[in-house]
Amino acid sequence: ADPARQQAFDSAIEAGRKIEPQDWMPEAYRRTLVRQISQHAHSEVVGMLPEGNWITRAPSLRRKAILLAKVQDEGGHGLYLYSAAETLGVSRDELVEALLSGKAKYSSIFNYPALGWADMGCIGWLVDGAAIMNQIPLCRCSYGPYARAMIRICKEESFHQRQGYELMLALCRGTAAQKAMAQEALDRWWWPVVMMFGPSDAESVHSAQTMKWGIKRISNDDLRQKFIDATVPQAELLGLEIPDPHLKWNAERGHYDHGPIDWSEFWRVVDGDGPCNRERLETRRRAHANGAWVREAALAHARKRARRARQ
Ligand code: 3HC
Repeated sequence: ADPARQQAFDSAIEAGRKIEPQDWMPEAYRRTLVRQISQHAHSEVVGMLPEGNWITRAPSLRRKAILLAKVQDEGGHGLYLYSAAETLGVSRDELVEALLSGKAKYSSIFNYPALGWADMGCIGWLVDGAAIMNQIPLCRCSYGPYARAMIRICKEESFHQRQGYELMLALCRGTAAQKAMAQEALDRWWWPVVMMFGPSDAESVHSAQTMKWGIKRISNDDLRQKFIDATVPQAELLGLEIPDPHLKWNAERGHYDHGPIDWSEFWRVVDGDGPCNRERLETRRRAHANGAWVREAALAHARKRARRARQ
């Protein structure tokens, strides 16, 4: 690589200046961003599926409207992030193909089933709560387009988290059966959400480098701890029991100690053998095939307009 340009890149990172698409960047920096931003986009798009199944089953018009708005937001986040990835010289088709072929990853959390209405509460409260923890530091990411996309996305995420928590509050203040539903959903979602932050820092293959490049600002374990510390009091307010017998406030550390994470489950789900991996990819492939005519029509229309503009 050209030492002068490497030097310029290093001092920009050092000074906390944003790297923009037209700036020179090391190929490995570009590749890491394509990997992370595209997988982030895939997560948003696949993340619409568990919630989408409940739009027609929402218990009231108000809940239906809220859930519909949230799912639409997720779709928009996905498109926003695909556009940010395209600034790095990859095409949308390539990125979508990587997902549909099963090559690219998306967040493990979306491979779990949403079995009841309370799951919509847990996903908003916990999954979007975790996503906010992970996405706020990304607003300070060294790559300009990604950081700017995150600022817009984080604003919408806080609505997602709040509506989920409010849904759980309604259930916990409802009948005993409703509260039991909320507890049963929390029992299923707690550990998969704790795993969502990624492998432990010791196991993480990318963290050291992505932290040097100012992409990852806070480590997986520190974000996980931050999430647990913030969420335990919320569960207490709801009157719900977090399914971790080792969860205990450690005054010395100023954090909650928690039980061991089942990393074999995490890797099984990441490697494609979770409860819903096959179903999620099949649904995405079907949606892509059913949407081909829209893409063709839009392209034909664009070609016609381009021809007319040249006349
Ligand atoms: N699910 C699937 N794969 C995961 C994962 C998870 N929860 N956590 C880590 N991995 C993968 C990584 O992608 C990497 O595999 P790869 O090399 O094939 O990409 C491998 O495990 C090693 O993990 P590392 O910690 O070394 O990898 P990263 O440094 O990339 O850290 C990350 C993982 C924290 C997820 C980071 O990539 C990140 O911050 N990504 C952007 C944010 C994101 O994707 N958030 C989750 C979903 S978005 C969401 O929840 C939407 C909300 O609206 C609901």
